[in-house]
Amino acid sequence: MNPNRWTQVGNWVIDRFPLSKLWNDHMAHYYAPKNFNFWYFFGSLALLVLVNQLVTGILLTMNYKPDAELAFDSVEYIMRDVSWGWLVRYLHSTGASAFFIVVYLHMFRGIIYGSFKQPRELVWIFGMMIFVALMAEAFMGYLLPWGQMSYWGAQVIISLFSAIPIFGDELSLWVRGDYVVSDATLNRFFAFHVIAVPLVLILLIFLHIVALHEVGSNNPDGIDIKKNKNADGIPLDGIPFHPYYTVKDIFGVGVFLFFFAVVVFYFPELGGYFLEPDNFIPSDPLKTPEHIAPLWYFTPFYAILRAVPDKFAGVIAMGGAIGILFLLPWLDRSPVRSIRYRGGFFKKALLLFVISFLGLGYLGTQPATPGATLVARILTAIYFGFFLLMPLYTRWEKAKPIPERVTDESTLEQKIPKMVELYQEITVPSEGTLKRKPDLSAIGRVLVRFLKNLKKSLD
Ligand code: HEM
Repeated sequence: MNPNRWTQVGNWVIDRFPLSKLWNDHMAHYYAPKNFNFWYFFGSLALLVLVNQLVTGILLTMNYKPDAELAFDSVEYIMRDVSWGWLVRYLHSTGASAFFIVVYLHMFRGIIYGSFKQPRELVWIFGMMIFVALMAEAFMGYLLPWGQMSYWGAQVIISLFSAIPIFGDELSLWVRGDYVVSDATLNRFFAFHVIAVPLVLILLIFLHIVALHEVGSNNPDGIDIKKNKNADGIPLDGIPFHPYYTVKDIFGVGVFLFFFAVVVFYFPELGGYFLEPDNFIPSDPLKTPEHIAPLWYFTPFYAILRAVPDKFAGVIAMGGAIGILFLLPWLDRSPVRSIRYRGGFFKKALLLFVISFLGLGYLGTQPATPGATLVARILTAIYFGFFLLMPLYTRWEKAKPIPERVTDESTLEQKIPKMVELYQEITVPSEGTLKRKPDLSAIGRVLVRFLKNLKKSLD
């Protein structure tokens, strides 16, 4: 076909479908704030991981057998006999953890820059619905290999429903489709995992982005770029999403794929964090594993569940820990969005929250000894305190004045010499070679400096 023909085909489509309008409205003439930093990579990376999960998921389904008698062996068959099956499976299992890493960082960005605040409340709510759907998707997918951890993890979590008074037992029976996790459970989880929840996820992501494009992106300064427009109505601090952010996002994709490939090819189990050792043992309904723990991305919430002595109260606390995030836009009473212009109280509260989340995440992977349970209770109190006290401390603390226009940040080109300087500071030349070796006292000095700077930035 000569180029003229292509143009004709293009015009034929454009006359019948708003292709160029969609492209212009959402890419070429969509003005995004010009000060996006690396925190803004994670939305597009979440889309990339979604595509990876869909493609590899479809390929896995071609050889997987959703049958309690055959499921475990069919996964082994994929790993050993299907051409490139091992790669497809590792891309999918690593993709599941990567999804949560990317989404947790994406949510954290929303919290530090106040992206959930007016007028982006719906963007946040759709995001939270995605998060819940993603957890359901991961939970049901984990049953499919039908290993010991698949089986017993599902058994523990589904039996939580029975803690609900009056109809709890009936409910867990209904979810399982049997008195114990069985073939019936595997079949329904398969149906939800491969089609129902992915469809919901795709719909929610569509709504998430439509809602975002209606109000426009926030930015690291948390200020409204639509307030300053030129004569053509274009924000002075805005740049077209394409080509500027498409190119920036491609760079992010490159960096991400590097780390992703290292895990897929060299550490697919990641020390038991991405694929648990017990799950390489076929499920045995008569043999409970000594220590049942969900995968790392559920462990903060699992630790909250275990920290509460009463089972039903534990279930409420675990649900509440996720549910309270939905309320964030209304709990935060600060007049400013970005952490850059908030008072010290919010920053310290956020630091404590991060410590509690990571601490709970660690404790959720460990056996519940009395000491660990005590620490988990303290961290649970901090977790909820961050949200429940938020209306008070965000109203009382004094915010800093916000700038009229977005502020500059140092570019990668400016940062690289500083990184080289730091590398030289913490290493010394190794005698007789061109290599450098770590200098422990210099590393200590740099750490102290870092902590001092962190303390200063918390004021
Ligand atoms: C599959 C999961 C998700 C995908 C594919 C996704 C995708 C995106 C994309 C492409 C953007 C625009 C680019 C960016 O700002 O990074 C965005 C923005 C945003 N997302 Fe998500 N998202 C997901 C999950 C979530 C979740 C779980 C939340 C929070 C609960 C969330 C909250 C937000 C917010 C608040 C913004 C606006 C940020 C700003 O303008 O500063 N997203 N998302």
